Amino acid sequence: MDLRARDLASLWHPAAQMADWREHPPLEVVGAEGSWLHLADGRRVLDGIGSWWCKILGHRHPAVVAAIADQCARFDHHLLAGCTNEPVVRLAERWLALANRPAPGWFAKVFFADNGSTGVEVALKMALQWQAQAGDPGRTRFAALEHAYHGETAGALSVTDLGRYRSPFASMLTEPVRLLGLPVRSGSADPRWQDAAAEWPAIQAQLDAESRSLAAVIIEPVMQGAGGIRLYSPDLIRRLRGWCDAHGVLLIADEIAAGCWRLGEPLACHHAGVLPDLAVLAKGITAGALPFSMVLATDRIYGGFLGTWASGRAFLHSNTFAGHALGVACAHAVLDVAGEGALAGRVVQGGGRIRARLARALEDRPWLSGLRGIGLAVAVDLRCRDGAALDPALATGWRAARSATAAGVMLRPLGDSLYLMPPFTATDDELDAMVDGLLAGADAAVP
Ligand SMILES: Cc1ncc(COP(=O)(O)O)c(C=O)c1O
Repeated sequence: MDLRARDLASLWHPAAQMADWREHPPLEVVGAEGSWLHLADGRRVLDGIGSWWCKILGHRHPAVVAAIADQCARFDHHLLAGCTNEPVVRLAERWLALANRPAPGWFAKVFFADNGSTGVEVALKMALQWQAQAGDPGRTRFAALEHAYHGETAGALSVTDLGRYRSPFASMLTEPVRLLGLPVRSGSADPRWQDAAAEWPAIQAQLDAESRSLAAVIIEPVMQGAGGIRLYSPDLIRRLRGWCDAHGVLLIADEIAAGCWRLGEPLACHHAGVLPDLAVLAKGITAGALPFSMVLATDRIYGGFLGTWASGRAFLHSNTFAGHALGVACAHAVLDVAGEGALAGRVVQGGGRIRARLARALEDRPWLSGLRGIGLAVAVDLRCRDGAALDPALATGWRAARSATAAGVMLRPLGDSLYLMPPFTATDDELDAMVDGLLAGADAAVP
């Protein structure tokens, strides 16, 4: 049996309709380097979505590979309960310093977990327990944004707003307060980029109605990823920060997709110049080499959990692989490579290049619209060839992504939108080729 047949016989893939698998078999990867995946049939394809947005330094970056080997020579992992090591402490120190740039001393502690969804669970649980221990046990609800995506575990899925991921499991989820009417913008060139005044009164009214029941508001700062690479004004974050402070509600930033320089800053919240009470990071922090996540917390949150064992105030969340030592090593390599602004500069320059090339292509393509982007995250929406709206049942996004992949650029759609989230290390030629692949896919697929 060839590998595809064995795959079909034995694997159940993530985010897949397996009934399609025979018609659309997976790519067989035999190697990877930089922006490229090497396939068993001798072809190579560009990883236009950085393997679900995590490969910020590309595949097998030498600094990351060396860091893993070096750490393995000492210890590969030990539990983080009751033990510590120098690299994990230094990693916390380095990320606290980076995150605190707009407000030195703001975050005080790092709690480690082992993937993005679990990091979100940690933050939600911290908020609930903190509110109860601060004398407000009635604060049991969360507010979350329309179109939000926060992960696949029950708490994270509860605050997620994407029906296709959420609906089948509604019976095991809680209902958040869903904030509607976001100040959607196209990017930093939008004249109202830093201004959410028009939309705020309606959002505030939704919050005011639940101000006594909320434990926390959770957001994907600036960019909503799986919801369609939707951008909103950073001014909303400032306004939410002010509202939360005034009403005793915590603010949680899920920085899993938008943080770690994806939008050009260490944290996407830095675009707003304010910081949340809890920030969750994953994906790029290990350059996507190992599963890993971190929750940054302020001293006020941390202090709420101190007491005797008998007080029951401790935060008893324990993942076996929390703070995995090989992940810590990768995370140091990322920060070493990032240096002082090295990654940020490339992200801003590369993102500008992609947007400019796409903007030119859109001029004679009425079937592409809604160009938006910030940092190295850029998206467009597909339409019919004459510019009319698409019938979602045609699955045009999927057909376009498959055509792009056949043309040498691996993409996945978000509904009928196509997007690029390349490694920050992609060369200009590779970025241009990714745009061309996206366009080839769109041109071939639109009806
Ligand atoms: C904003 C956001 N939150 C949470 C997650 C879940 O992270 P993970 O896939 O590591 O569980 C993702 C994954 O795409 C994400 O984009």
